[in-house]
Parts: sequence; structure tokens; C-alpha cells
Amino acid sequence: MSKQFDVVVIGGGPGGYIAAIRAAQLGFQVACIDEWKNAAGGPAPGGTCTNVGCIPSKALLQSSEHFDHANHHFAEHGISAKDVKMDVAQMLARKDNVVKQNNDGILYLLKKNKVTFFHGRGSFAGKADGGYEIKVAGKTEESITGKQVIIATGSNARALPGTPFDEVNVLSNDGALRLGGVPQKLALIGSGVIGLEMGSVWRRLGSDVTILEGLPTFLGAVDEQIAKEAKKAFDKQGLKIELGVKVGEIVNGKKGVTVNYTNAKGESVVLNADKLIISIGRVPNTIGLNTEAVGLQLDERGAIVVDADCKTNLPGVWAVGDVVRGPMLAHKAEEEGVAVAERIAGQHGHVNFNTIPWVIYTSPEIAWVGRTEQQLKADGVAYKAGSFPFLANGRARALGDTTGMVKMLADATTDEILGVHIVGPMASELIAEAVVAMEFRASAEDIARICHAHPSLSESTKEAALAVDKRTLNF
Ligand code: FAD
Ligand code: NAI
Repeated sequence: MSKQFDVVVIGGGPGGYIAAIRAAQLGFQVACIDEWKNAAGGPAPGGTCTNVGCIPSKALLQSSEHFDHANHHFAEHGISAKDVKMDVAQMLARKDNVVKQNNDGILYLLKKNKVTFFHGRGSFAGKADGGYEIKVAGKTEESITGKQVIIATGSNARALPGTPFDEVNVLSNDGALRLGGVPQKLALIGSGVIGLEMGSVWRRLGSDVTILEGLPTFLGAVDEQIAKEAKKAFDKQGLKIELGVKVGEIVNGKKGVTVNYTNAKGESVVLNADKLIISIGRVPNTIGLNTEAVGLQLDERGAIVVDADCKTNLPGVWAVGDVVRGPMLAHKAEEEGVAVAERIAGQHGHVNFNTIPWVIYTSPEIAWVGRTEQQLKADGVAYKAGSFPFLANGRARALGDTTGMVKMLADATTDEILGVHIVGPMASELIAEAVVAMEFRASAEDIARICHAHPSLSESTKEAALAVDKRTLNF
């Protein structure tokens, strides 16, 4: 007889493993199936995020930022560092070790919470008494049943038609995170989040980086003023970003990659590069799930169709994270995983899509929550805006990083905070205060009246709140 579980989670990324842990905390018998393999063929739970996404990219961003600081910023502190060299192999080994610590941590957490982990591919075999039969194909093959199933199978990099990833010259995020050396010339297609983060890593290490972007605007989803400020900083760093291009033929040859494209002026350009990273978005992953066996509904993008509560068209089958609608972010996947486990337990799990923060971990960092100025205008909302530059913040000056600003948008009548947009040092950490404030539906005045530690970057958030009422104290 097959093993029976209350909840079977397919996928062990941030959506899946967190859902499994929460379901186990709520008293269910839980199985979590994940197929990711480490170099030795062993289990490597954590999904895209841990293995080829959030974690390794941040490890490389950190290493390359240290290198950049040693080369360009130590001198102003009186530190001389001559002949600074980057050992790429060591940088990658450190990154791999950081990934492994996270893989091991997740295995430990699953065990601690008594979640049964299966290493292999999970697929629907059919309906079973009061639930679903799931086939697990790993080293061996077995069948388990779940009264409830949570699908968290994530996403894969989108390829350009006719240009498959070979992960040698034409790279997805996977190959981009394990380049054996610093390419002299690096081309990227797509100046979204991955393009900017990966472009920054390799530029800091010495690559001549060109990013080709199809849209005429830079970071269209970001508040215009913030995007403009960020673009200025990237231009200064030498990150070449060409907007409004139309990518044509791509030739993957022995000596590298040639990208033919038409620039915004309509001129034909040939770009030769040693490596090409394609970062044009990601596609939901339902490969191998055998959705047909149970009639699970997918949309035209291949995403699993869910309602606001992450319920699919099948009773007892839920889906969370990158494989469903909404932003492809690890913390969004986690929140959905928790909410679904709580709903299965009859509780009222909830994800507030209006307060999901975004962060781009470049230098300067870009972070935001809530609506942008252009969205508020489009929605016809009367608002007040206040901003405060890091140039006027004492801690930023002491850090030697005064790029950017905090910008706050509040309702013109009620003063409720509608959006906070940051470009600058530690924006990734600063945004948390704004998220909490918005979750509690705070007004700009609430933030302005709160005592913030001095000297701290967070004082800029307070000052931006004061600026909403046109009464900054330090600018
Ligand atoms: P995934 O993390 O993709 O996990 C899905 C898991 O399911 C995988 O382990 C997969 O092997 C497994 N699986 C799939 N099908 C099956 C099956 N049939 N049987 C068994 N297992 C299966 N987000 C952020 O919030 N912050 C960041 O800084 C950030 N950086 C990123 C950097 C890069 C380069 C990339 C590519 C992404 C980044 N993301 C970031 C996005 C983030 O990685 C995803 O949003 C997140 O991983 C989605 O979680 P998930 O659980 O839905 O899916
Ligand atoms: P993206 O959606 O952020 O950016 C893709 C870019 O490629 C867009 O600007 C788009 O206009 C452009 N593009 C699309 N097709 C094109 C074409 N044919 N020619 C030229 N340009 C083209 O996607 P990206 O960077 O691949 O990242 C995928 C997702 O992963 C992100 O949307 C995000 O959800 C997640 N992620 C999150 C990170 C974070 O939170 N810090 C870091 C990295 C990824």
C-alpha cells in the first residue's frame, strides 16, 4: 500500500518547503518532494532561490562588491591595497558553500518539523480515495497519496526562440552564476532584475558589459524618478544599457557569441561578446507534473490557474509561488505557502499583494513597496510626495555612499502611505520599515513622529515622511 499523507507538497523551493513546514506545524502528516540535485547527485532543496537564484547571486554580488571597494574606495579611507586580484574559483567555491549551507539548513528544518522528504520528481498518477496519487521518481520509484496537494514547482529561464541555452556561451541565470573566469566582453539581453544584478557582478570584476533592452524605458515597473537616478549611477559605473533595441540573429560560434540588433535609432549593430546572458523573464514550470492525469487547469503562459486563495480547479489541489500568477519573488512564494497551509487547517491565511516589497541588489540598491507615482496618476489618486537625498544623511556620508534617496508617496487627504521608493545604500533593509508602516496603514505623519536612531540611514525615511508635509529638518 502506498504511503498516505495529509498534505503532499511537490517542489522544495521557498514556496514548497515553507508550506511543508507550516503544514507540519499545524499537525498534518506532510511529504515534500523535490528533484533538485547537487553536484554529487544528492538532494539540494531550496529550489531556484537557493541553488541558482537569490542566494548564489547575492553571494557573488557581495564578493564582487568587496573587490570593487578594494579597487575604488579603500584609498579614500587611507587603506592602500595594491595589486588586488580576484580568484574567481575561490569566489565560486565560497558561493557554492553558501548554497550548500542553505540546502543543508532546509533538510535539517524539514527533519526537525517531521516532514518526510522525497528526492525525485513528483507527478500526478491519478485520483485516489479522498485525494490524489503521486508518483515519485527518484533513485527508486514509489507511489504516495495526499489528501491535499500543494504544487510549488517554480519557474525556468525563458529562452529566446532559436537560441537555446548551452550554459557555455549562451547562459541562463544558471550558467551566469558559474562562469569559470571573467569574460572580457559580456552581453546580456534584458535589463530587468537578473540583467542588472548579473551585469553588475561581472562588470565589477572587469568585464566590458553591454545590456540590450527591448523596451524604450528603463525599469518600467519602478518609480520613474528612482529608475532615472539608478540609471545615472549605472551609466557612471560603465554599465552600458541600450534601450529600445530589437534583437535579431544570434550566432553562437567557437569564439563567442555575435548578437545582431537594431538600436533605438533604427541602425543595425553587431555586438561580439565572449559570453551572452539571456535574462528576459521566466516561465512557470509544470514539466513532468503530468497535469493531464487529473485535469489540472493551466493558462496560456503555462501557469497553474489559481484563485486569490491559491486554489486550483481541482478540489484539494493548491499551487503557490512562481508557478502561479503574481510576482516571481521568493518571499511571495513563502507567504503563499504559509497561507495555503493555514487555509488547509481551516484558518484564514492571507497574502497582502499591496505590500510585497521588491529589491534589486545592485549598487545602489533599488527597493520599493506600494504604488509608484506613475501608477497613482494612472489610478487618478490625489497624492503628496516627499523625498530625502542620502547626500544629506550623516550615516550615508560616513559610509561614503550618498547616492540616491528615499521617496514617500501619501494620500493627499488621509496622509496614508501609498508607496515608498528607495535607491541607495541598504535600500533592501530600509524598505522593511515602509512595509510594516503600510501593513499597519500608517500615515506619513506616523513615520515622521517616530524616533529613529542617529546616525542611521533610516533617518532618511523619517525625513522623507517629513518632506511629505514639506518640513524636512536636515535638507
Ligand atoms: P522554485 O524556487 O523554482 O522551486 C521549485 C522547486 O521545485 C525546484 O527545486 C524544482 O527542482 C522543484 N520541482 C519542479 N518540478 C518538480 C517535480 N515535478 N517534482 C519534484 N520537484 C519539482 N527572488 C527574491 O525574492 N529575491 C531575490 O533576490 C531573487 N533573486 C533571484 C536571482 C535569480 C538569478 C533568479 C533566477 C531568481 C531570483 N529570485 C529572487 C526569484 C526566486 O528565486 C523565485 O521567485 C523563487 O525561487 C520561487 O520559489 P518557488 O518555490 O515558487 O519555486
Ligand atoms: P525581468 O522580467 O525582471 O526582466 C526581463 C527584461 O527583459 C525586461 O526588461 C524585458 O523588457 C526584457 N525583454 C524581454 N524580452 C526581450 C527581448 N526579446 N529583447 C530584449 N529585451 C527583452 O526578468 P529577469 O531579469 O529574467 O528575472 C526574472 C524574474 O526573477 C524577475 O522578474 C524577478 O521576479 C525574479 N528575480 C528577482 C530578483 C530580486 O528580487 N532581487 C533578482 C533576480 C530575479
